[in-house]
Amino acid sequence: MSRLDSFIRRLTAQRDVLNHICARMELPADGPIMEIGLGNGRTFDHLREHFPDRRIVAFDRACGAHASSVPEANDLVLGEICETGRAFQTGTAALVHADIGTGYPEKDALTLTWLPQMVAGMLASGGIAVSGLPLDEPTLQPLEVPESVPRERYFLYRKV
Ligand SMILES: C[S@@+](CC[C@H](N)C(=O)[O-])C[C@H]1O[C@@H](n2cnc3c(N)ncnc32)[C@H](O)[C@@H]1O
Repeated sequence: MSRLDSFIRRLTAQRDVLNHICARMELPADGPIMEIGLGNGRTFDHLREHFPDRRIVAFDRACGAHASSVPEANDLVLGEICETGRAFQTGTAALVHADIGTGYPEKDALTLTWLPQMVAGMLASGGIAVSGLPLDEPTLQPLEVPESVPRERYFLYRKV
């Protein structure tokens, strides 16, 4: 598969999983959304369109988002997420979306030494995690992704 095809499949999977959560899944009534990896801000923008009443806190090393998709200053957390995310492990988030996979197995393996525990620590019981990397953590129960999403492309969990 060409990298272009792979990129299109990744973005399609992201959109389909996020739409599935919005249309079909119950989230805790309260609690913010954590956007781990703001990037260009495309998924941040999609989330705020679909969850207009939720606070969305976005994390990245630096802000590289399109001007139309920059969070408010107090909802943008800059720095290494393995450090900045610690303060948000309050067990209150309704949804965590993590899009920080790189496609380099050795870099992703390093990320996976801390990401699953951080996502679990952020989520309230009943909260949803959606991630481009698998989150192997005992309190994150794997869920089926929509049929349109290829297996092992995007991962969905509910915090027990
Ligand atoms: C693939 S992009 C996210 C794209 C985003 N979902 C969008 O729709 O535009 C991943 C982002 O995560 C950030 N990132 C990856 N690992 C990080 C880390 N350990 N700490 C801080 N930022 C990180 C990168 O700087 C990059 O901007």
